[in-house]
Amino acid sequence: MAGKRTGLIGWPVEHSLSPAIHRYWFGQYGIDGSYELFPCGPGTLPAMVKELRAKNIAGFNITVPHKEAVIPHLDALDTISRQIGAVNTVVVADGKWLGTNTDAHGFTANLWESVGDMAPYLDSVIVLGAGGAARAALAALKEARAKRITLVNRTTDTAKLLAGQFGVGFEPWERREQALTQATLLVNTTSLGMKGKPPLELSLETLPRTALVHDIVYAPLETELLRNARKRGNKTVDGLGMLLHQAAGAFRLWHEVNPAVTAELRNHVLKAAA
Ligand code: ATR
Repeated sequence: MAGKRTGLIGWPVEHSLSPAIHRYWFGQYGIDGSYELFPCGPGTLPAMVKELRAKNIAGFNITVPHKEAVIPHLDALDTISRQIGAVNTVVVADGKWLGTNTDAHGFTANLWESVGDMAPYLDSVIVLGAGGAARAALAALKEARAKRITLVNRTTDTAKLLAGQFGVGFEPWERREQALTQATLLVNTTSLGMKGKPPLELSLETLPRTALVHDIVYAPLETELLRNARKRGNKTVDGLGMLLHQAAGAFRLWHEVNPAVTAELRNHVLKAAA
């Protein structure tokens, strides 16, 4: 095939929405490209790397569980992926594999697009979780100059380490409801509430009604957290926009086209997910 080959490595990947997103843009912009799925189970990353090196590939995305494990296989890392400690996008340039991370930009772009002006929500931010998604959110929030950020996580050691690294506060999981009392923005970066995962047990009673609630989980689109928040009058932002905007970042790097994240794309992806 003449067009640029791109794709996604991860496990599992068969339900990924990324092919639907990238292929939609190929159609929109008349690009002769491909976006393939490369299922890569735990322990098989070195073999996959070898396979991909042998292919004439323009770049690829990386998802769970390889976002950190892929790093030793790369030729270079940019500043943002170094800061996050994880790579979600590789660009192949002159045979070199360059790692970057478009999740942080995706996080910010989605929030800006959803609320217009993020500034009123950046006074006191609560981030639930301390995994890769939390690191992307923290990098984005630091760049957006959030005034106070508090990390709340089940495992204290991981969270304390991360909080120290990013210069943010920390509260134990047991105190998550008390931590909400002055929040202007609440972000769930854990997988809790996702289809097939345990629920996020969190009473919003102490959360100011002026706070914005953002769940990076997008399946279901309206999580229990977002539903509860909406019902009590809080503004909410779902996680699909972050997925679309991180994809846009990768697409831009590979195809040198700045793809639009539109309502039509959202509907297209939601249909693909149904
Ligand atoms: P990702 O890299 O995609 O963010 P991850 O590294 O698996 O995913 O992180 C998942 C987050 O969800 C972690 O913060 C995890 O908390 P721990 O650090 O304590 O593992 C959080 N999480 C997962 N299951 C949880 C549960 N049952 N209760 C509370 N937090 C949970």
